Amino acid sequence: MTAIDTAALKNPDALDVKRVRTDFPILDLEVNGKPLVFLDNAASSQMPQPVLDRIVQYQTAEHANIHRAVHYLSEKATAEYEAARRRIQRFINAREEREVIYTSGTTDGINLVAHGFGRKFLGEGDEIILTTLEHHSNIVPWQMVAQEKGAKIRVVPINDRGEVDLDDYRGLFTERTKLVGVTHVSNALGTINPVKEMIAFAHERGVPVLVDGAQAVPHLDVDVRDLDCDFYAFSGHKLCGPTGIGILYGKAALLENMQPFKGGGDMILSVTFEKTTYNTIPHKFEAGTPPIMPAIALGAAVDYLGSIGMDRISAHETDLLDYATQCVNRMPGVRIIGTAERKAAVLSFAVEGVHPHDVGTLLNEEGVAIRTGHHCAQPVMQRFKLAATCRASFAFYNTMEEVDALVAAIRKVQKVFG
Ligand SMILES: Cc1ncc(COP(=O)(O)O)c(C=O)c1O
Repeated sequence: MTAIDTAALKNPDALDVKRVRTDFPILDLEVNGKPLVFLDNAASSQMPQPVLDRIVQYQTAEHANIHRAVHYLSEKATAEYEAARRRIQRFINAREEREVIYTSGTTDGINLVAHGFGRKFLGEGDEIILTTLEHHSNIVPWQMVAQEKGAKIRVVPINDRGEVDLDDYRGLFTERTKLVGVTHVSNALGTINPVKEMIAFAHERGVPVLVDGAQAVPHLDVDVRDLDCDFYAFSGHKLCGPTGIGILYGKAALLENMQPFKGGGDMILSVTFEKTTYNTIPHKFEAGTPPIMPAIALGAAVDYLGSIGMDRISAHETDLLDYATQCVNRMPGVRIIGTAERKAAVLSFAVEGVHPHDVGTLLNEEGVAIRTGHHCAQPVMQRFKLAATCRASFAFYNTMEEVDALVAAIRKVQKVFG
């Protein structure tokens, strides 16, 4: 009789990480003579072979400029570019493909809303609610617009665990509140914000909500219709796709009423020197030659993730984070920053007596890639009275053995500085 694999029985849907890793050629690299342990996924994740293959196929057999010609390659590229939009629409469960706008990334998407919505609808004395957990890209565009319009930014505080309190949030609403901007998952701490509840409360007051999903879409099964968010921005390069591509989801009725942020080719129906008539959405917001190859590659990336299953990805990453948290909690002299009840894929920590930059440098000598710094979230650092943290961030292709390698490398750092 063959032995029963009890682990598989307990969790028949578990991710086959060993197999998944064979899709990522870069994970076979050695760095400083050690196997690469890539734990900087929150900054940018790696691309699997099907996405790399899709890029080669496009560049070798499908490339031409889109929407502008009747020849074979242009029609092929246009069809693939629009098919990728539909793939992404399904991936986030948007109602219509015209609600999916290609951008160059999360930052670009948020700027599109700040300029296209904010500059049109915000006035003197109006208020925007943001949280302390925001990345600079969901702060600075709003400051720029607020400055121009005489609007104010009100900030939801966070507690010592790195969580927003819903009562604090509710208490910030006034009759002047015109927009809420909130990150779904904090890139600095990993906190998952209760965005569904936040959106429902804002909607009771007729206030639209923009969600920064840069750190959520790679880790959670995001359904924009279920969340009922008005805008949702994310980046392709954190989602196993290339750099230079991102998505802004927006409800059609809002997008139709917004000003285009950039003017140029493709976003118009007609132009005279007296007057321009804008194209319909989403093209109104896609001026100029777009990132055609990156868009098509992002379509392949979401298909790849979908074939694995976001629920499986989430479950595996939760196991990794739980294991890493337990290991690090047992290490004297190492403190976890951000201990929210609901977290995704991020472990921020400080090693007593060692500057985060030195931790990062020594970990690199062991082949372990983490990020150190303020993570473009300085208000979070200020809240915890830190200049920087060390941040290990996980993807579904990481393993428990890699968590062990991280822990061993931190021990080495402590020895060097001990
Ligand atoms: C939460 C969050 N928002 C926005 C961004 C900006 O993304 P991008 O640089 O791809 O525009 C990041 C990038 O790290 C992020 O983590």
